[in-house]
Amino acid sequence: MKTSCISVDINVDDMENYSQAVDLLNEGEVVAFPTETVYGLGAVATNDEAVKKIFAAKGRPSDNPLIVHIGTFEEVSSYVEEISENARKCMDQFWPGPLTIVMKAKEGILAPSVTAGLSTVGIRMPDHPVALGLLQTLKKPVAAPSANKSGKPSPTKAKHVEEDLDGLIPLILDGGTTGIGLESTVLDVTVNPPAILRPGGVTKEMLEEVIGEVTQPTLSEQDRKETPKAPGMKYTHYAPNAPVYLVELDKETVGNAIHKLHQAGEVVALLGPSEYKELKSDHFFSFGHEGNVDEISANLYDSLRACDKTNATIILATTTSNEGVGAAIMNRLEKAAGRKWFQND
Ligand code: TXA
Ligand code: MG
Repeated sequence: MKTSCISVDINVDDMENYSQAVDLLNEGEVVAFPTETVYGLGAVATNDEAVKKIFAAKGRPSDNPLIVHIGTFEEVSSYVEEISENARKCMDQFWPGPLTIVMKAKEGILAPSVTAGLSTVGIRMPDHPVALGLLQTLKKPVAAPSANKSGKPSPTKAKHVEEDLDGLIPLILDGGTTGIGLESTVLDVTVNPPAILRPGGVTKEMLEEVIGEVTQPTLSEQDRKETPKAPGMKYTHYAPNAPVYLVELDKETVGNAIHKLHQAGEVVALLGPSEYKELKSDHFFSFGHEGNVDEISANLYDSLRACDKTNATIILATTTSNEGVGAAIMNRLEKAAGRKWFQND
């Protein structure tokens, strides 16, 4: 299959931009499109054959459900049994935006592959002119996971989608670099208190201001059987080819780590704040300025992907605080590293 990539101007509400994508989606095809978080790979969420093409292109395990994207508030009630008070408050406050709300699904409406056998469905309204324009023109719900090969970092640029899915999908809408760079927060409001299944741009602190207590299980808490979790969180994620090790955000510690690894004959790629460029790693990819979580989230996946274009045999990634958006960054970094930390002694 030939993959076309068309540039969409995010400032112009131009029907021409969407017509090809809308036609393909209506014909049961898949299309990659930008959102404010990462690029998604969409199919009409009521068409099971179309949705199965997403799983095939990504190589995604079939027990991992997809998020349903919508363009209007009104349609939510068509797909869920009930919009609880907490769900309503979150929708009013955070939509459109990087928050997926897991609710009880109405039976028999969405394609079975979307919910992967669960009785719930995650729904979100993206805050991106191209995604919203596409959804509102199509007037149908769109199931869309991140548009990467399963296991790889999510795409924040159209070229990342091309790297992973060229020849496997018919169309990529190129809307430039996505703003947030990390996937949406997934909040389950069917449990009490509501549980963050995946941290993201809408933080625990922001949610608690609107709906009171929410839980945010750490990765090790998620290992416990009774903890509510997203099926997808059990799989390897965001992983470049070379192994990733987390290292404390401290210049001396990182400098010593590089020295030690060099002595052991390793080729080291360092992902860290721009201030760490002076350290003698073989490859350096900047996360942005030290402590700026918005810059780190925007750069994280691009940096992880960039490592695959080098001859690095080991990747060191500096950590950040677990506060606010930091929780989402650390969640992705720990997954990318398989929770391995570099030990200096
Ligand atoms: O920002 C985003 O959320 C992006 C853009 C494209 O919208 N999408 C995205 O989708 O990250 P995906 O499929 O890569 O991640 C969805 C996560 C998975 O971990 C999945 O297991 C979880 O959400 N999930 C989806 N439906 C769920 C449900 N009903 N219950 C629990 N977890 C669910
Ligand atoms: Mg994903």
